[in-house]
Amino acid sequence: MKPELLVLKPLLPRQMEQLDGHFTLHHVYQAPAPADLIESVGPRIRGVVTSGATGFGQDMLVRLPALEIVASSGVGTDSIDIPACHARGVPVTNTPDVLNDDVADLGIALILGAMRQLAQGHAYTRDGSWSRKGPMALTRSVCGKTLGIVGLGRIGKELAERASALKMKIAYTGRKPQDTPYDFVADLCELAGRADVLALTCPGGAATRHLIDARVLAALGPESWVVNLSRGSVIDETALIDALQQGKIGGAALDVFENEPHINPAFSTLENVLLYPHHASGTVETRDAMSQLVVDNLLAHFGGQSLLTPVR
Ligand code: 8YV
Repeated sequence: MKPELLVLKPLLPRQMEQLDGHFTLHHVYQAPAPADLIESVGPRIRGVVTSGATGFGQDMLVRLPALEIVASSGVGTDSIDIPACHARGVPVTNTPDVLNDDVADLGIALILGAMRQLAQGHAYTRDGSWSRKGPMALTRSVCGKTLGIVGLGRIGKELAERASALKMKIAYTGRKPQDTPYDFVADLCELAGRADVLALTCPGGAATRHLIDARVLAALGPESWVVNLSRGSVIDETALIDALQQGKIGGAALDVFENEPHINPAFSTLENVLLYPHHASGTVETRDAMSQLVVDNLLAHFGGQSLLTPVR
């Protein structure tokens, strides 16, 4: 008998086919009455497929008494109750590393897009403003500016490497200094004060909630930008919107928000923002690799092998 899986969020079609070959799948995301489906199959479920956006909480865990593994697509695990899963002896896997390049690339796109006013230039060219009004307003150089990185992990390091190639100076903060050529700045406000661009690549969750608050934004100042590739929860959005409205910071380039996908409508009224719909890992190649890692972790578990990327 094939092990039964609860699919809270589907993988790409290629990987759903693979899962179909090895497991009996229960597709919660397309069930007319998800709660009824979970109640009827819950006792037989041995694995869960989810994602960073969908998550997995204690409420689900208690309904799945035979659960052996939670496999999530996404590196971030802030939406998954890891302590509760581990307390029950249920391992959780995520998809680190395979998305580093694309997320860091998007970070560079946001930095360049913000400072060179890419969206404004696109609109200006397209709507005929150029021929009516002449050249658009001057933008800002990236070269020679300081990039402050909050959380120099796997993604932060890829971002630093790319920004170095753009001739940016790199400084970072985190729990402790690392063996890198970049400047470690222990104090976040001091880093913000030095940075022309403050990029957030730290994990989300309780430990980093509202790390970027009114004080940090004040230290960043009216010429500098904040770029968020992490989680919306890392920035106090009320303070951010106030800082943007009052010109207390230069601007914000954001891939993530506090209430996705229903973002605060104030963002749509601001000129000094560059907005992206939480899609830094959203390429065909990376989503394929993420989906595959989910499948490979499940196959390893049910094949009696070590997990490839367990969350510790
Ligand atoms: C995904 C992400 O978009 O990996 C993460 O943590 O935020 C993104 O790659 C997200 O997990 C939804 O699946």
